[in-house]
Amino acid sequence: MCGIVGFIGEPIKGKIITGALKKLEYRGYDSWGVAFLSGKKITFFKAVGEINGIPKKIQEIKSGLAIGHTRWATHGKINEVNAHPHVSAGNKLTLVHNGIIENFSELKKELCSHNFCSETDSEVVLHLIEENLSKGMDLLHSVSKSVSVLKGSFSLLVFSSDEPDKLIAVKNESPLLLGISDKGIFAASDQIPLSSFTDKFVFLEDKDIALISKNKFQCFDFDLNKVERKILKVKSDVTSSGKLKYSHFMLKEIMEQPFVLRNALEQEKKIFNEIFLMMKNSSVFFIANGTSFNASLFGKEFFSRISGIFPQVIDASEFPYQVDFLPKNSLIFALSQSGETADVLDSVKKAKKKGFKIVSMVNVFNSSLARASDKVIYLNCGEEIGVASTKAFTSQIALLYLLASSCAGKFDSALTELKKVFLKMQQSIELNKNSIKFLSEKFKSVKDVYFIGRSLNYPLALEAALKLKEISYIHAEAFPAGSLKHGPLALISDGVPVIVVAPKDSVFSDTINNAIEAKSRGAFIVGIGDEENPVFDFFIKIPKVKELLFPLILIPPLQLLAFHTAVFLERNPDKPRNLAKVCTVK
Ligand code: F6R
Repeated sequence: MCGIVGFIGEPIKGKIITGALKKLEYRGYDSWGVAFLSGKKITFFKAVGEINGIPKKIQEIKSGLAIGHTRWATHGKINEVNAHPHVSAGNKLTLVHNGIIENFSELKKELCSHNFCSETDSEVVLHLIEENLSKGMDLLHSVSKSVSVLKGSFSLLVFSSDEPDKLIAVKNESPLLLGISDKGIFAASDQIPLSSFTDKFVFLEDKDIALISKNKFQCFDFDLNKVERKILKVKSDVTSSGKLKYSHFMLKEIMEQPFVLRNALEQEKKIFNEIFLMMKNSSVFFIANGTSFNASLFGKEFFSRISGIFPQVIDASEFPYQVDFLPKNSLIFALSQSGETADVLDSVKKAKKKGFKIVSMVNVFNSSLARASDKVIYLNCGEEIGVASTKAFTSQIALLYLLASSCAGKFDSALTELKKVFLKMQQSIELNKNSIKFLSEKFKSVKDVYFIGRSLNYPLALEAALKLKEISYIHAEAFPAGSLKHGPLALISDGVPVIVVAPKDSVFSDTINNAIEAKSRGAFIVGIGDEENPVFDFFIKIPKVKELLFPLILIPPLQLLAFHTAVFLERNPDKPRNLAKVCTVK
């Protein structure tokens, strides 16, 4: 994971770089650092923790060449030494890295005459470049020679005080783009930190090296053959990139879901028809991770029920072990908010090698997944900053429903249905936004919470449990309601909360029977649905909608429950421990 940013151009203040870096913090926030060319020397600063308390001299420093990094540790402890930028002895060369260098131990042995300071894999790249510079090569040739021996994923930004008119950017299996502004050229892991400076971006491809100066850039492959990369104008985001009146991004992103849903539905029917033609004679496999995986479970349900296509769902981290056994006519349908998740990208690469077609549903425009796909449906839900995915999930569900309906020739009617749902979603949020806090406060002293549901309510339970555990650190698990008796009932004792996802649908009465079984073993039963039942000790009421659309109405209160529980426990829901928004390592 990790976020990197760089700039070359007119001298700007240090706080512009730290400000841009702050916007990448959702990619990693255990330590950070910046390096500037000031005069003829490199000045750098590193710190552990979030990007706060930036020394005044760093904020006010003026420089026309800078790089920065916010870290999610993979190799080496969280401390200042392991934080990036790495800087050579004598402060002549500096580098930031996002990704993993798989062959760093072998390379480190070869560089035994060098003095390594950190435990990171990244520092080996600095020494490799230094070694090549010492042989008389210029910076560009040294970088190209060095990266050609690296194995793994890496996006790099490098500069040297000996060649102060150059910033070098390298991309391989980790995201990196350039932003072309009036003041100079930026480089960053994604568009978010650059959107206030420019709408012109260059999306680097894998195995690209960009040689960047104040007002121009040139791209090369690793052998330094020139490659053409276009500048694309990217339309500005549909949602505000700030927190607005909200205390946290996660809260803002939960609350804006009805608005976001309307935006997600701005889709071209033609693409949906083209995807149907690709899917209809194929064996379809959804691949995704985490919340996107849970969303694809709904995809499976919608397609089987509506369209007569029967997809399977595979966790993207497991897909590489199954790809060899899939039928020849397989079509891979990848879901990802970021479009940069390494497990998904690796799976797609392996699927393409087999000749399978790739369809994706992605939020981030022109992300690596979007570019690797034969057809893309964009979620159009704006930047999602909170580490826990919320609004991307509801957009994914809505668009999977639209696509499944479209495959049955019902695009227009499904669109009309979905457009009505956003009001019900709004009601679901309004009804519960305050009352849910009572439950959250009660949860702050519990150790375990179980979620149960049948049919479509089971993947919903999975997603609700994921939200609660990842931001509150309370143990939360979901089970198919009917499977409680096959083992999990042993976990129930006095007062253990069981959240029963029970809208008044075709499985309601069976679900209620399972809730009664849990209650008679002492469970505290929280029901969520459109109709109250005596078995519930606490009831979360949501409006009534059509059975297949209940997930869109059920999830916002459960996201709010997770959010408020985390806040009561004084945990930052926007930055849960050990997690990062974009998982660019396998
Ligand atoms: C959970 C969460 C993660 C992501 C997962 C996949 O709230 O955010 O589980 O869903 O890392 O990320 P994307 O969708 O970007 O591929």
